[in-house]
Amino acid sequence: MQDRFLKSIASLPASLATAIVPILDKDFSGHISAQQLDELIKTTKIEEHTLLQALLPISAALATPPISQFFVGAIAKGSSGDLYMGANLELPGEALCHSVHAEQSAISHAWLKGETGIKDIVVNASPCGHCRQFINEIVDGGLVKIHLPEQQPQLLSYYLPYAFGPADLNVSQPLLSKQQHSLMLGSDDPMIIEALDQAAKSYAPYTKNYAAVVLETKDGTTYCGRYAENAAFNPSMLPMQMALSSMARHNRNFSEINRAVLIESSKGAISLVGATMDALHAVAAVELEHIVVEPE
Ligand code: THU
Ligand code: ZN
Repeated sequence: MQDRFLKSIASLPASLATAIVPILDKDFSGHISAQQLDELIKTTKIEEHTLLQALLPISAALATPPISQFFVGAIAKGSSGDLYMGANLELPGEALCHSVHAEQSAISHAWLKGETGIKDIVVNASPCGHCRQFINEIVDGGLVKIHLPEQQPQLLSYYLPYAFGPADLNVSQPLLSKQQHSLMLGSDDPMIIEALDQAAKSYAPYTKNYAAVVLETKDGTTYCGRYAENAAFNPSMLPMQMALSSMARHNRNFSEINRAVLIESSKGAISLVGATMDALHAVAAVELEHIVVEPE
C-alpha cells in the first residue's frame, strides 16, 4: 500500500480498511471499478452511500495543497458505475485561480477515463459555488446527485437554483458528451500524437480553442489534460491543471516532468499559452513546447 494512505486507512471502519488495502496498491490513482465497489459492499456489508462517504479520506489523501494545507477529497460516480476520486491541487507561489477543486479533479478524472455521464458526486462538505457551476456544465448537470454526510442526496438543481449553464449560450452538447474535433498535424512524435488526440476530445464550445496538454516524466510515462470550458468562463478547467491533477492522483512529483506539450487550435478566440506556462513554471523547470494546429 502507498504511504500516503496510512493515516486515512486508520480512520476507516475496520472491515472497510481490511477490504480496501489490496486495492490501494502502488498503481492506485483513485479509480475503483463498479465490480470492486460491489465486492466492497458485499464484504463490508456497509450500505453504498455510507461506504462512499467513508472512502472520502482516501480521496483527500490524493490532495496537494501547499498553500492552504486543507485536504479535500471528492468521488464522482460515472454512468458505468465506476468511481473516480479527485482531490484539490494548489500551485506553490502561483495565483489562486490556478487551483483545482476536488470536485473538478474527480469529474475530469471520470472524463479522461471515457465516462459520458456522472450520476453522483460524493463530498463531505457542501460543494462551493465554483464547483456547483462546474458540475452544471456536465450533460444533465442539474440531475447529478450530491451526497453529503448524514443527509438525503439532493440534485444539483437543489444546490444551484436559477442556474446559468451551457443552454443559455446555445450549447447543446455539454461537457462529457462526445467531442470529436478534426485537427490536422503531421508528426510522428508519440507525445504530440497523444496531445492531438486529446485536443480533439477537448470541450471548448465558447472559444473553439480545442486544446490539450501532455506531460512526460523521466521514465517515459505520460499524463494528459484536456481543456474543459464553462459557460460562466471563470470556472473553466485548463488542460495543464487537468494534467497536473492527474499526475498528483498518480502520486508523481512535478519535479519528475521532463517534457510538456500544449496543443491548441489556430482558430480559437483565445490562447492558453501564457496561463499554461505560468502553471508549468510554478512546478517544473521545463520549457513548454507550444504547437498550434489548424482545424480541418
Ligand atoms: N476546495 C475544494 O477542493 N472544493 C471546494 O468546494 C471548496 C474548496 C479547495 C480549494 C483549495 O485548494 C482549498 O480547498 C481551500 O479553498
Ligand atoms: Zn469548489
